[in-house]
Amino acid sequence: MPSLAVIGSQWGDEGKGKIIDYLDEEADLIVRFQGGNNAGHTIVVGDKVFKLHGLPSGVVRPGKLAVIGNGTVVNIEELLQEIEQVESVGGSIEGLRISDRAALIMNYHKKLDGAEEKYRGNKPVGTTKKGIGPAYQDKIARIGFRAGDLLEEDTLKEKISLLIPYKKDLMNMLGAEGCSCTNESLLEKMTGWGEKIGKYICDTGVLINEALDEGKKVMLEGAQGAMLDIDHGTYPYVTSSSTVGGGICSGSGIAPNRLTGCLGVVKAYTTRVGEGPFVTELHGEEEEILQKKGGEFGVTTGRGRRCGWLDLVVVNHAKTLCGFTSLAITKLDVLNDYETLPVCTEYEIDGKRTKYFPGSIKNLEKAKPIYTELKGWKGWDDTEALVKGGYDALPDEMKTYIEFIEKNTGVPADLISVGADRDQTINRKADWWN
Ligand code: IMP
Repeated sequence: MPSLAVIGSQWGDEGKGKIIDYLDEEADLIVRFQGGNNAGHTIVVGDKVFKLHGLPSGVVRPGKLAVIGNGTVVNIEELLQEIEQVESVGGSIEGLRISDRAALIMNYHKKLDGAEEKYRGNKPVGTTKKGIGPAYQDKIARIGFRAGDLLEEDTLKEKISLLIPYKKDLMNMLGAEGCSCTNESLLEKMTGWGEKIGKYICDTGVLINEALDEGKKVMLEGAQGAMLDIDHGTYPYVTSSSTVGGGICSGSGIAPNRLTGCLGVVKAYTTRVGEGPFVTELHGEEEEILQKKGGEFGVTTGRGRRCGWLDLVVVNHAKTLCGFTSLAITKLDVLNDYETLPVCTEYEIDGKRTKYFPGSIKNLEKAKPIYTELKGWKGWDDTEALVKGGYDALPDEMKTYIEFIEKNTGVPADLISVGADRDQTINRKADWWN
């Protein structure tokens, strides 16, 4: 029953899409277990370019099942647009399966997302405005729609008549842009969604567990990153789902003892989108250089990502929460032009050193990074040598950087990525499924 989870060890955008695409060839099922279309990655298959947000990356691979698990939030209207886009470039979504328990993102969630941000005054979270938080709020408050409701007209009618007056009042109260729908028009719309997408809705927990029973390979695709976790991230500057190890089980319906491997994706430096503390953040020209070199602009929002040095306090926090068995280190090529590379291993807060990530935002804001300066591999850009020579052909300084990460986390860096293409990857592990 091999399963392999792939989780971002920072604040998202670590390059999970490329890594999943590299490893999912052998997988039979690829499962999204949390988040929604706040995620975004671009997958290139031959001459086809797929821009995915809510769809699992496996959807572009023929013959595989691509599962949207129960722990996710799904905007059906936007999912239908995404499906159209995939089909327009020659992709097929035959393998798509959506959990009947997945929570739905409604139009009013998007409107409330914007309105709630306004109420946070000068401390907004900087959300993607996709309605993620409000949709999870309704799930937890037990007043949300689930994908399975689309198959039951009575349930839809019942929920619409209870929820719509409430949501309209709420939007009025918060000064959100109004919603012109009536109970009847919403019922018609949602029934239409059921007709279009109903054949993909099922009990995905059963599907995944049966696949594991049969010895099939299940890949669990994390979205965002460990530091955006609702419990363990930089709260309140986080997303609203469980992005760490525990979220895999609750969000897909499998037991913890069915997880066999967890790959942590570590970008060779750090980025984050939106607000919130960022101890190793660079500023001004230094940040701009890294942002441009790394192409650090969001796929979902187009926003420029904040950039800084590698922070191993962050990566170790993620490791503890996810139980990484391997690391994939990405975007090492972006650091080609530096003489020295600072790597943060501890924080100093009020004169005291710590290697543990603090829960208090106030403490994080005071934290100063303690850096070890490593020598850069300035001028090295020979990816051809990489393809031919593998790990041994890497410049010594890059190997030292990688080994420093391994030593400080205690986890082997089994995948090394030095470019967006599949062949710009070094695989140091013979079998990912055992
Ligand atoms: P939300 O998920 O839209 O509620 O946004 C909450 C926070 O998570 C914001 O700071 C977003 O920028 C961040 N966020 C959400 N999804 C992603 C992602 O896929 N990559 C990076 N940051 C994200």
